[in-house]
Amino acid sequence: MRKFEKSSKLEHVSYDVRGPVLEEAERMEDEGIRILKLNTGNPAPFGFDAPNEVVRDLIMNVRSSEGYSTSKGIFSARKAIEQYCQTKNFPNVTINDIYTGNGVSELITMCMQGLLDHGDEVLIPTPDYPLWTASVSLAGGTPVHYICDEQAEWYPDIEDMKKKVTPRTKAIVIINPNNPTGALYPKEILEQIVEIAREHQLIIYSDEIYDRLVMDGLTHIPIATLAPDLFVVTLNGLSKSHRVAGFRCGWMVLSGDKSNVQGYIEGLNMLSSMRLCSNVLSQQIIQTALGGYQSIDELLLPGGRIYEQREFIYNALNDIPGITAVKPKAAFYIFPKLDVKKFNIKNDEQFVLDFLHKYHVLLVHGGGFNWHEPDHFRLVYLPQMEDLKLTMSSMREFLATYRQK
Ligand SMILES: Cc1ncc(COP(=O)(O)O)c(C=O)c1O
Repeated sequence: MRKFEKSSKLEHVSYDVRGPVLEEAERMEDEGIRILKLNTGNPAPFGFDAPNEVVRDLIMNVRSSEGYSTSKGIFSARKAIEQYCQTKNFPNVTINDIYTGNGVSELITMCMQGLLDHGDEVLIPTPDYPLWTASVSLAGGTPVHYICDEQAEWYPDIEDMKKKVTPRTKAIVIINPNNPTGALYPKEILEQIVEIAREHQLIIYSDEIYDRLVMDGLTHIPIATLAPDLFVVTLNGLSKSHRVAGFRCGWMVLSGDKSNVQGYIEGLNMLSSMRLCSNVLSQQIIQTALGGYQSIDELLLPGGRIYEQREFIYNALNDIPGITAVKPKAAFYIFPKLDVKKFNIKNDEQFVLDFLHKYHVLLVHGGGFNWHEPDHFRLVYLPQMEDLKLTMSSMREFLATYRQK
């Protein structure tokens, strides 16, 4: 039998959030051990149900969704997205600038495949949502990481971003609101990013899947609204705001000046056609989901589950000697810092593995987000309060004696 290896294209692709630690957790589950999974931003398993009217919409549309749609998606979905963009003041968006996808994930890969040639560079945050880095590598490009600064609310370090632009840079990616830090970028930071893109003629990709999950009365500003003279691709979807990650429902919007990107758009159209269309049944819920009452809002206010769990986890983590954490403003992640000297931590993956073995709680090490020091981990604070409380007391107990060998 001939031997088959994985494609050499995958050699430089790393995707450690689903790496050896998850495999070990799954192995333990196979042995019958209950693992508390704080590793993915998947609201449904933690009792965050999808809104009833969204589910009803889905059921009512099963019959009419049996066939393929046009490659970009059905009219009602794209019209609703166009109107959503209007309410948020996106410049120069028509229904033809909107593509639905099987989650934002499919579109991230698609838009990088369509853009990059070997050696082209894309500026990506560190820490990142690692699909961006992996998709750039898979498309033959080179991810270049700019630092997000923990001392400054995890905002992008503008000087670092400037330093990392080269003649091969084609684009800047931002994730706002951010996974894994929970940061929300203010207008001044966004304007400076736009200025860099303007000066070097770069495309901006803005992953805004958490734009409806903002707390503390703050407002999300889409970067596209600050850059009508540039080409901006904004990605969004229902996985988080409507707790339907399993439905695989996302979209992307092309805005601003498209005069110099017609070739790229042709490529996107081709790639979109090659996958025929996104899940039509999921597209059917977009109009209902985006219009009218937004049930997520209550969860983000004082008394709401996400808000209260954020308060708890932020205070509990900062209360543990050797841990500090910046308060997240959005989404449902926190990215705490470990005192590596105190715990003699040299390997962050080992740290989360040791915690998994002892307490059966699965976290993701900072390296999974292309963070290059072994001093962070990410925690998803979606589980019920009792589980979060248990996790925090376990962490306190664990760190009281933990020293890496
Ligand atoms: C920043 C970010 N972008 C994209 C995605 C993928 O979302 P989707 O379910 O729409 O593929 C996630 C999921 O965790 C995310 O955190």
